[in-house]
Amino acid sequence: MWEADDSQDLWADAPRSDGGTERFVTGNLTRDDLDVERGLRPQLLEDYCGQDHIKQSLRILIEAAQTRGECLDHVIFSGPPGLGKTTLAAVLANEMGAQIKTTSGPAIARTGDLAAILTNLQPGDVLFIDEIHRLNRQVEEILYPAMEDFALDIVIGKGPAARSIRLDIPHFTLVGATTRSGMLTGPLRDRFGISFRLDYYSIDNLADIVTRSAGILGVQIDRASACEIGSRSRGTPRLANRLLKRVRDYAQVRGGGAIDLDIAREAMAFFEIDELGLDWMDIRILETLCKTFRGRAVGLSTLASAVGEDPNTLEDVYEPYLLQRGLIIRTPQGRMGTAVAFEHLGLEPHGQ
Ligand SMILES: Nc1ncnc2c1ncn2[C@@H]1O[C@H](COP(=O)(O)OP(=O)(O)OP(=O)(O)O)[C@@H](O)[C@H]1O
Ligand SMILES: [Mg+2]
Repeated sequence: MWEADDSQDLWADAPRSDGGTERFVTGNLTRDDLDVERGLRPQLLEDYCGQDHIKQSLRILIEAAQTRGECLDHVIFSGPPGLGKTTLAAVLANEMGAQIKTTSGPAIARTGDLAAILTNLQPGDVLFIDEIHRLNRQVEEILYPAMEDFALDIVIGKGPAARSIRLDIPHFTLVGATTRSGMLTGPLRDRFGISFRLDYYSIDNLADIVTRSAGILGVQIDRASACEIGSRSRGTPRLANRLLKRVRDYAQVRGGGAIDLDIAREAMAFFEIDELGLDWMDIRILETLCKTFRGRAVGLSTLASAVGEDPNTLEDVYEPYLLQRGLIIRTPQGRMGTAVAFEHLGLEPHGQ
């Protein structure tokens, strides 16, 4: 049931729904990303671009723990898909010189599964649980004494004869990752000594990531093109790497192999990713709000049927980035296209 460090398994256990539509600009992991991500993942803090505040804090915390000869306190990373939570977990283990064991919330179905994982840990190991908010409640309760006292409470027997024994387990660091920090239970959240929230990346940081990845892939790219790819990556390294791969393919077939600004722009127009990283569905949503409904507030279900999408998918997959870029707003009456959206579509704002 439990395999150490096998992202293929994670993929099988924790598929994320995109509402059935495989989008190029989704921050979620797609099968296409798996090969690339293995090679491109930074191994050490110095290779990890951006998130400076988190890196600085981790450096201090790791050094302090190492000086004391102790494990690092339990850490939780939260933030949207593709921002580097899994990568940071591996980097942290490398920097601690520790072994990492990887699993995910939905993969641990029974309490016995977690007990087996915990008793097999070596002292100082990092146990990484991805999508930790998806652990079931009984399993989560086994985790509490393990995190607090490095102990495992086991009940032997049934009924009145049942008794509980406490086993010691090695000291370890639990690293959790979640895309939905709001779904973590209070008791679990409280047991993490260190908590970091990852933010979307700046274009500059994304350009650094693109440049680094291009180096690994053996593709020549100039700074302007790296910035161009970065600016269309929705603040997300996974998307930046995915875009780079497509632009590389395009440059190989239509150009001389190297990526310059013209080729980068041509390639992204070819793949229908616009200057803000919006795809055709995003544009359709904006056009519906700004053209069809002329900037008036529109209820979620009305908007969903107007664009032919499921309301939940619209809310979970499409809206977050549009909201974050200030292209739409949510009001009690419904969703509205903003002046930024009108401008992006080249329309005159309607009197609202
Ligand atoms: N700061 C970074 N510097 C360089 N590359 C990065 C950085 N963050 C992420 N990446 C790249 O982006 C890819 C996606 O990162 P990662 O898998 O860690 O995201 P995640 O937050 O765990 O996503 P998910 O929520 O889907 O699990 C990685 O393969 C890595 O190559
Ligand atoms: Mg991950």
